[in-house]
Amino acid sequence: MTRSALLTGATGGIGQALARQLHAGGFRIFITGRDETRLRGLCDELHCPGLAIDLAAVDAPTRLYAAARDALGPIDILINNAGFNKAKTPLVDVTAEDIDASYALNLRAPMLLAREALRDMGARRSGHIVNIISSVVHFRAENFSVYTTMKNALHAFNGCLIKEARLVGVKVTGVYPGGVDTAFRAQPRPDYLHPESAAAMILNCITAPDDAIVHEITFRPMVESNF
Ligand SMILES: NC(=O)c1ccc[n+]([C@@H]2O[C@H](COP(=O)([O-])OP(=O)(O)OC[C@H]3O[C@@H](n4cnc5c(N)ncnc54)[C@H](OP(=O)(O)O)[C@@H]3O)[C@@H](O)[C@H]2O)c1
Repeated sequence: MTRSALLTGATGGIGQALARQLHAGGFRIFITGRDETRLRGLCDELHCPGLAIDLAAVDAPTRLYAAARDALGPIDILINNAGFNKAKTPLVDVTAEDIDASYALNLRAPMLLAREALRDMGARRSGHIVNIISSVVHFRAENFSVYTTMKNALHAFNGCLIKEARLVGVKVTGVYPGGVDTAFRAQPRPDYLHPESAAAMILNCITAPDDAIVHEITFRPMVESNF
């Protein structure tokens, strides 16, 4: 039986590349993003179901998981990939709304999706939850406090989830990419990783041998030395 996967952030750089690689690898996928046009185009290209949804809404993760489960049946893999950083902002200019928006998408949404997945997968004692975090947890930088804080919290959550999910036979992987050349930042960075390369690293974690769990993986472009 081919494995099924729910992938968030599929309309973005890493997510789109990963959706294509999962499809090519024979996975049955359900994809999501906010941009309806881009999502529909990718659904048509990959002949897969999807749902355009804003994951910052409090009930969206639960609704998304239910829609994916209706479409795919039991979900084998959840990939929490959607995330954003507004722009590098000095703390003196950060608003409460900035903090809430980052919290809702970068932390609450993956936590709630993981909860839904753990309920579903844990009952079957099989499955895999992949959280796309960031190598930002390994360093500190000016004007990066909101995103860094939320990704560090997601890193802490991932560690707790590894322990809890293990008890019910579910694998958990935290992925810590360095810079990837996507629309994540306003300026192109051709010296950063190609999104296809980041996607290939994530796929490696998903296709590891059955008896192996990749708990954490960090990868970077050669130009980075922030470690
Ligand atoms: N690029 C990097 O250098 C880098 C490095 C480390 C970690 N990461 C992480 O990797 C993940 C993917 O990043 P990327 O580089 O592929 O960024 P991207 O190209 O900007 O894509 C971001 C994805 O997240 C989705 N998204 C944003 N806000 C959303 C919301 N409120 N509700 C639902 N979906 C939303 C976007 O959907 P729409 O476009 O349809 O709104 C898009 O599909 C993120 O978690 C990011 O933090 C990126």
